[in-house]
Formats: sequence, structure tokens, C-alpha cells
Amino acid sequence: MNVIITEPSAAPVINALRSIGYNASTAIADLVDNSIDAKGSIININFDYGDLNGAITIVDNGTGMNEEMLQTAMNIGSKDPRAKRGANELGRFGMGLKTASFSLGKRLSVLTKWNGVYHERCWDLDHVSECNEWQLFTSIPDEVKLKMGTIEGVSGTIICIDKLDRFMGYGGKRTLKETSFYKKVSRVNKHLEFVFHSILEKNEIKMFINGKEIIPWDPFLRAHQHTLEGETQVLRINENRIKVQYFILPHASHLTEPEYKNAGGYKGWRDHQGLYIYRENRLLYFGDWMGLFPKDAASQLARVRIDLPNEADSDWQVDIKKSGINLPEDAKRRLEAISAIARKVSKEIFYFRTQAKTPGQSFKGSLNTWEQSGREDGPQFILNRSHPILTELFNKMDDEAAKLFNLYLKFVQLGSPSNIIDSPKVPEEMVQEVTEGQKELVTQFASTLLKLNVANNEEQLLNILITQPAFDGLNRATMKKIVTEADIIE
Ligand SMILES: Nc1ncnc2c1ncn2[C@@H]1O[C@H](COP(=O)(O)OP(=O)(O)OP(=O)(O)O)[C@@H](O)[C@H]1O
Ligand SMILES: [Mg+2]
Repeated sequence: MNVIITEPSAAPVINALRSIGYNASTAIADLVDNSIDAKGSIININFDYGDLNGAITIVDNGTGMNEEMLQTAMNIGSKDPRAKRGANELGRFGMGLKTASFSLGKRLSVLTKWNGVYHERCWDLDHVSECNEWQLFTSIPDEVKLKMGTIEGVSGTIICIDKLDRFMGYGGKRTLKETSFYKKVSRVNKHLEFVFHSILEKNEIKMFINGKEIIPWDPFLRAHQHTLEGETQVLRINENRIKVQYFILPHASHLTEPEYKNAGGYKGWRDHQGLYIYRENRLLYFGDWMGLFPKDAASQLARVRIDLPNEADSDWQVDIKKSGINLPEDAKRRLEAISAIARKVSKEIFYFRTQAKTPGQSFKGSLNTWEQSGREDGPQFILNRSHPILTELFNKMDDEAAKLFNLYLKFVQLGSPSNIIDSPKVPEEMVQEVTEGQKELVTQFASTLLKLNVANNEEQLLNILITQPAFDGLNRATMKKIVTEADIIE
């Protein structure tokens, strides 16, 4: 078939890209994503009003870019959106740097340092419009460079956006006055406190706006003793693990006035109910039930956290701005069920029934059967041993029964589907390294099976052991060695 190369025309394309629907806050967040992906630990965002000639700079101490990386980065579409991204990577489309910047202003300058060497590039849309070609400057104009300063360490990046027509409202009826400019900056601040709260809470990254540190804002009020945390549920949606957990905020009577105001967020209580969708720990979407339910006053205490990995992007139709999403059909029914419970509890508490029954008593966390463990290597979910019913059961048991029951609980925990999903493939006939803890658990379990006559010889015993989800990482040869050494078969 004959083809004819049809190159997009530079001026219209680049100008159209300015209008894909960012606002100042979502644009800055998209640029901050890049600094996080570049492993920056300090990210400084500066807004300078100047003499109506505002400039925005984003400075990070991340890896920076070499000449080739920078050249690619400046391309519209620098990476294929279908490519697999690294764990925790926030980027997806190879567009954000350009589209977010151009939604704020007409000139984007990037100064970056890689192993001590500086590289620079600059897009100026006035120039592109004029020549109608994709002409990228290989140096940054002096007046801009002055505003950017230098990069202190051996690596890092400074992004500067100026000619801020969009951010300043040029061309509209009026241009932003200085006070409104800084009001806008404080709205951006609020947005970042919120969007990056989970990432900031890890204390590995610090962000500043005009020198002031961005303090994470937790929409779930986890620090408050009257907040109820639902159990974390793990859903498998098209091969991806999605975590869902609901939170019910405390009744207003349990909050001080500043706490109440703060928990209402920047949109107010009613508009902060619903699903909170995070992608790699970065908030993507919030503020309603995404068509599953309408918003109502009694549900305003319910906030449901959903955590997606970046592999799930296409299922959930994550958009370029990282602010829009679509629920996959498979997820709807299950999220609806979880949300319905959260809404019901919210209603109870909103009308004060639940709390009225247990005055002054907080049961935060303690009614969960499962809790998420902080450890990366061990099981992800551990049984809540201080659950009141479990405590009561143990109180009623004699030592022998308690021991057996404890062993059983260990197996429930190790064998829980969410704990075994990611277990590594086991090499076949090689005896593996095992820890003393594992050895003890296998021995304990094996001798119990023998005692209860579930298994009567080594063969039977190994057949059972090998099929236990709890021992998913151990092969037969290893089990055999442990059992033989323990000398438990008569
Ligand atoms: N602050 C930075 N430090 C180091 N490299 C950066 C920085 N900002 C951008 N880059 C590089 O430029 C590339 C292009 O960034 P851009 O934001 O356009 O796309 P992306 O982050 O890959 O995807 P998305 O469009 O989803 O944001 C990035 O993939 C990264 O390699
Ligand atoms: Mg990006």
C-alpha cells in the first residue's frame, strides 16, 4: 500500500496541547511527579510574580539527565505509553513535562546536571508559532537562566516556566494581581499537601513552596482515635492487585473546631466523601462515588481508599493529567459492595447511633480481624491478635488447646490468599536455605499432623506439607530434610 508521510504541523499541535484540561494545581503536580521519579529527595517549587512577568521554577536534587535523555525528554511523546514502567514510577505518557508546562506558560526551560555536567534545552512557543517548526533551543536565554540559578549537588534538575500567560490570565479580561497570584499559589499548596500526602508521610522526600514546607494532609484522619478503619481488602482485577480500605471519620462531636475545619479539606465535608484513588501512592482522583452512589450528607464521613499499581493504568484508563480515571466493569460491583458498608457505617455515626452505644470508647482498629503488616518481606496481612473475640477465646481455653489454636491461626495467616500471591517460584529438587523459624513451623505442623493421624508415614506427610499455601516457598527436598532432622516419624 502506498503511504505518504504527514507530519503534524508544529504551531497548531503545540498550541492545542495547551488545552488538554490541566489547572494550575494538576499541572504542578504532574511536574512534581517527574522530580519524584528522578529520585529527588528535596523538591523546591517557587512562584515568582516578578513585574507581571511571573515565573515558576521546580528544582530537584534527583538524578538529572544526560544530553541524550534531556533531548528525548523535551520531545512531545518521549516514551511509549504502552511500555512497562518501573515499580512506583509515576510517569506513563511521555507528555507531562511539556503538556503541564505549556498549560501554565509559553516558555519551558530545563537545566539539568548529570554527574556534575550541565545540559540545557528550551521550548519557546512564540518561536514555534512563528516559524511553525519544531525548533527547540539548545540553550536557555540569559534572562531566564538568571532566574534559575545553579544546581548545588552533582546532579539535579531545574524546570522553569515563564511567559506565564495562562497562569496569569493574560488575554482574559484582566491579569492576576499580586495578592490573587499568591492566593492561587496557596491553592496549589493545598492540592500538593493532599495529592502527595502518602508519599510525604514516608519522610523520604521533602517539598517546599516558596520556602515553606508542604505538610501532608491525611484525608482519612488516621491519627484520630475515633476514626474507624475498615479492613484492607485485596481485589484481583485483570491480574492486578488492587487494595481497598474504607475509613469512617469521627462524628463532629469528637472533633475540635480546627480539626473539623481541617478534615473538611478544601472542598468541604460533603465533597470529600467517596472514593480516593491512588496510583503508586499518589492521589489521582477523589470527591465522589464515581457513579456508584450519589453524594449525600449522611455518607460524608465515609472515605474509601483504593490503591492501584501503575500496571493497572490501561484498565483504569488513567489520563495524561493523572487526574481522571474510569472504573473497570470488574471493579464496580466489588467497590460498590465495600462502599455500601462504609456508607452504612457513616450513616450510623453521622446520626450518632454507634457512638451513643459506646460512649467515650474508641474501638479504632481493634475490631479488624486482619491488619496490614509494615514489613516488606513477611506476610502482608497479619491476624489481629488483640481482637476482643479472639482474646475471649484464648481466655476460655486450656494451654494445650491454645497452643493448637495458635498453630492453626499461624496457618490461616500464612495461607491467606493475599499473602501468597507474590510468592516466588520454587526451584525443584535442590534443598533450600531455611530459617530456624521456618524449620520450627514445619516441624510443629508436621508433628501435629502425625499426632492427629492426618498423616501416618513420611510420604503422606510430605504430600500434605507440599500443598500447604503457608509453605509455598519450600520444595519437597527441603521439607524432607527438615522432617528427617527433626526425627518425628516413628
Ligand atoms: N525532574 C526531572 N529529572 C530527571 N528527569 C526528568 C525530569 N523531568 C522529566 N524527566 C525525564 O523526562 C521524561 C519525560 O517527562 P514527561 O513528564 O514528559 O513524561 P513521563 O514522566 O515519562 O510520562 P507522563 O507524561 O506520564 O508524565 C521522563 O520520562 C524523564 O525521563
Ligand atoms: Mg511525567
